[in-house]
This record gives sequence, C-alpha cells and structure tokens, in this order.
Amino acid sequence: MIGRNNKILGIALTKGRLENETVNMFEKMGMDVNELRNKGRRLILPISNEEGPPGDGIGQRCGIVAEVILAKAPDVITYVEHGVCDIGIVGKDVIMEHGGRYFEIFDLGFGRCRFSLAGKKGENFYKGHGIKTVATKYPGVARSYFESKGQDVDIIKIEGSVELAPLLNLADGIVDIVETGETLKENGLEVFEEIAEVSARIIVNSVSMKLRKTEIEKFVAGIERVGKA
Ligand code: PRP
Repeated sequence: MIGRNNKILGIALTKGRLENETVNMFEKMGMDVNELRNKGRRLILPISNEEGPPGDGIGQRCGIVAEVILAKAPDVITYVEHGVCDIGIVGKDVIMEHGGRYFEIFDLGFGRCRFSLAGKKGENFYKGHGIKTVATKYPGVARSYFESKGQDVDIIKIEGSVELAPLLNLADGIVDIVETGETLKENGLEVFEEIAEVSARIIVNSVSMKLRKTEIEKFVAGIERVGKA
C-alpha cells in the first residue's frame, strides 16, 4: 500500500521539537496551515492552498495537496518505511538510532543539536581501568560510537531525562542530544566529547520515490525556494 490516500501526499511529522518550525516552513511555502495551528487533539490534518486550480503541486496554489500525520519520531520512520506515509520529517538522531529502509533526501537545516558524551562537570570519564557505564535514550548510537573508538562500555537504556543517570550514580556518563546546553548546565553536567551533528531531515518511502517522484520533487523544490528566500 502506498499512502493512505493515493490522491494526496501523506507527510508524517515529528510532534514537538520539530513541529513549529515545520509548520512555519509550510506557511512560507504558501500552504494554509490554519488547521495545523488549531489542531486541538487531532492527529491527521490537511494542509491546503485554496486559491487556485488543483493539481499544481505543493505550494503552487493548488487546493488540498497533502495531509500531515503527527507522530512520535520513531513512528514517523515506521509509517514511512511501511508506505502509509510518503514523506517523513524527523531528526537525524532518530534516523541514526533506528536506521531502516527509506531514502533520506534533504537536510532541512533546523532542529540543530549535537549528539554528545556528557557527565558530571570536572570529572574525567576515562579515569581508572574499569568498564564505564553509559546511560542513553540512544543505545545504538552510543554502542557504535564506543565501538568505533575500540572501547568496551556497558550501556543502560533510559527513556527520558537521561541527565539523572550520572547524578544518581547510575552511570559514568550519558550519550544524549544537546541543543542549548541548558539542561546539562543547570544540572551540574558538561559535554566531554561531541559525537555528531543532528538536524531535521526529509525521508521518503522507497516506492513513493518512484511512483510520486514529480510531487516529491515539487515538495522539495518548494522547501528549497523558501530556504533560499
Ligand atoms: C532533550 C535531551 C536533553 C535536552 C537537551 O530532551 O534529551 O534532555 O533535550 O536540550 P538543551 O541542550 O536545550 O537543554 P527532551 O526535551 O527531548 O526530553 P526528554 O529527555 O524527556 O526526552
């Protein structure tokens, strides 16, 4: 199955962190984002442009051309992989952790943050000879980082507020995303090492990429236009 509705593009959008900037971007592209801004608890919203004849493509004065599906980040990947959404907007952090079969086609440039190894301010993460313990929401990213350095670590999966783990002496350090650095600072932690840069990406279902190439290219061209404005 390709998309929920084969007439319009299905765009899975990560709720929360990336949502506002994406809605602002859609607005700049000429889309009517009224429904998205006043969504209440709805999870599927049309994005429309009602000022012209249908069928011209996204941002081209073309009636309802897409629907936005609001989902948690890992689920954005699942919906795109399974082809129930054509396009996904999701952070590179989640892409790095979850992998999957889809095309990553565009760096949106917002939602910028860094994967970092952090821990208690002033401590040396590597001191002593014992195997270090690392807490993280991203065990895959943490494992491959330490493997690439040839270091053996114990990894503990935490679901949120990972900063608690070193404070409670559960772990020697954390691997997490750092945006402003405020959460670390306010909890007496600091970055030890930077692992990778992260930003919002567009991913596309591999079948949609072939069957809806023109619409997807128009969508990306619309984004490039407002990006350059
Ligand atoms: C992320 C991350 C840090 C915080 C970093 O958590 O895990 O805790 O944001 O942001 P900062 O550098 O701007 O302070 P998120 O807000 O996604 O919540 P969570 O920890 O509950 O998942």
